[in-house]
Amino acid sequence: MSARIRKAVFPVAGLGTRFLPATKTVPKEMLPIIDRPLIQYAVDEAIEAGCDTLVFVTNRYKHAVADYFDKAYELEQKLERSGKTEQLELVRNVLPEGVRAVFVTQAEALGLGHAVLCAKAVIGDEPFAVLLPDDLIWNRGPGALKQMADAAEASGASVIAVQDVPREQTASYGIVATEGFAKRQGRIRAIVEKPKPEDAPSNLAVVGRYVLNPRIFSLLESTTPGAGGEIQLTDAIAALLEEEAVNAYRFQGTRFDCGTHIGLIEATIRYALDHEKLSDSARQLMQNALAELGVEELN
Ligand code: G1P
Repeated sequence: MSARIRKAVFPVAGLGTRFLPATKTVPKEMLPIIDRPLIQYAVDEAIEAGCDTLVFVTNRYKHAVADYFDKAYELEQKLERSGKTEQLELVRNVLPEGVRAVFVTQAEALGLGHAVLCAKAVIGDEPFAVLLPDDLIWNRGPGALKQMADAAEASGASVIAVQDVPREQTASYGIVATEGFAKRQGRIRAIVEKPKPEDAPSNLAVVGRYVLNPRIFSLLESTTPGAGGEIQLTDAIAALLEEEAVNAYRFQGTRFDCGTHIGLIEATIRYALDHEKLSDSARQLMQNALAELGVEELN
């Protein structure tokens, strides 16, 4: 594998039960940070990394994701007629020209590995990316996936994003053990899904960005249910590293776990504080809110 990735898979079939009742009708990937849904941040990151084919693995209830990436004729016409060119651009740029969206249904929620396997026919025999939109990664420089795609292209190996987490949190993540790191990369020796802290081989956790060799598909086909009774991508990666090099990559950037309430709040705060138009008022109102609650000013 030393080709550049062109295709990205977005598993978006999860139920999002943590965000009920909102997710009764709004898929969790459509929850916004400021004015863009989480899925848009992940899509932009994939496009920046060079992807032009986006594969959404959805379930039959998730029309909102497909609708969002579809052309909105009436809305575009209205905005055009009323001269709202800035808003028109925002709506059109949801999916830039030359980028196509493909929707694949995951009929049963059998796990992340199974969701990725559903994209097999669209991906074919080339390296590809997987992005979990819950993991929002903020960076001033190149996005996390671009950093990883460059590394994968140079080495020819699969690359998996990692970051250190507190040991008591290992049961929420895939955890890797690596050989030494050179710069940001280290070869993975072992990977295990959601180990208890006492069983975890390290506290280096997998974050939802992967660049994978297509060999993963045949390994997924023979992967049996693992942690939580689900077909785990982690288990197929464990099989892959028996055959070839798979590298862990410590990306540059800050990751927000938007699959949790506090992560979504944290991301909203960070993006507001970094926002061209909102930063001053966001800072002010945070200070006011803290002062009202009797907490000392920020800084
Ligand atoms: C998934 C993966 C896990 C990874 C995590 C990152 O778990 O299975 O290995 O560490 O994403 O967000 P999930 O959070 O979907 O349970």
